[in-house]
Amino acid sequence: NMANIVRNQRFNSLTEVTPENLSSRYNNFFEFGSTKSIWKEAQKLNTEGWTINVSGLVEKPFTVDIDSLISKFSLEERIYRHRCVEAWSMVIPWTGFQLSKLVNLSRPLSSAKFIEFKTFYNPKEASEQKARWYPWPYVEGLTLEEAQNELSFLVVGAYGKTLHKQFGAPIRLHLPWKYGFKSIKSIVSIRFTSERPVSFWEYLASNEYGFWANVNPNVPHPRWSQKTERVLGGSSRATEIYNGYGPEVSYLYSKHQNL
Ligand code: MTE
Repeated sequence: NMANIVRNQRFNSLTEVTPENLSSRYNNFFEFGSTKSIWKEAQKLNTEGWTINVSGLVEKPFTVDIDSLISKFSLEERIYRHRCVEAWSMVIPWTGFQLSKLVNLSRPLSSAKFIEFKTFYNPKEASEQKARWYPWPYVEGLTLEEAQNELSFLVVGAYGKTLHKQFGAPIRLHLPWKYGFKSIKSIVSIRFTSERPVSFWEYLASNEYGFWANVNPNVPHPRWSQKTERVLGGSSRATEIYNGYGPEVSYLYSKHQNL
């Protein structure tokens, strides 16, 4: 029941929440098509009996069903900005729990430096997964340090409801300081590794969609500027470094330039 979730006061200051009928009908979920109107097609996703497998450099690999995983943590609501690399943005009230809680539960070994996340693979439900030119399943990755940041959030609901299929039911990541493609949907596998994973978009075009993908108005995409963004249902606004979350995340990148 997502109706009486506690709203995290630190992440509720954004007043301009995107209306649900806009945000839930303008999505990227390439498993179901390459337009923004995949919300109907995404209803074919069957989330019954969903499990998540935790493997790799952990004390003991395990598989857990989604309901018992969710019941281990108290859920909270966070209102986060969501900025796509395509230069549109929205503001969503997500329900979920901090990724760091699942990291702790997984007991990573000291040799674990990265986490690789994978989406389901089921071409019978997701017809675009029949397209051979994509490296299915969708994969994303983070450093362990990024995964332990307080902002890294595993999402199981939106707008006070169980997560909409088009938003990546039953569980997806949201990393509000990174371009939206890092926020992988419908996760089935979490693997701890010592080597940097190669993500879906990085494999397809590493010069356009690199591993870090931190929102940065001063680093243009090779084919367009990132200085401004089109707010769904609104006008245009200046894009902020780390999407406005610099105070929370800039320490992660103090050693690197341009991240
Ligand atoms: N995850 C999967 N499995 N497949 C996808 O196509 N698209 C990404 C990301 N996660 C995608 C995905 C991109 S490009 C963006 S911008 C966001 O999901 C879109 O999330 P939204 O539809 O909830 O706005």
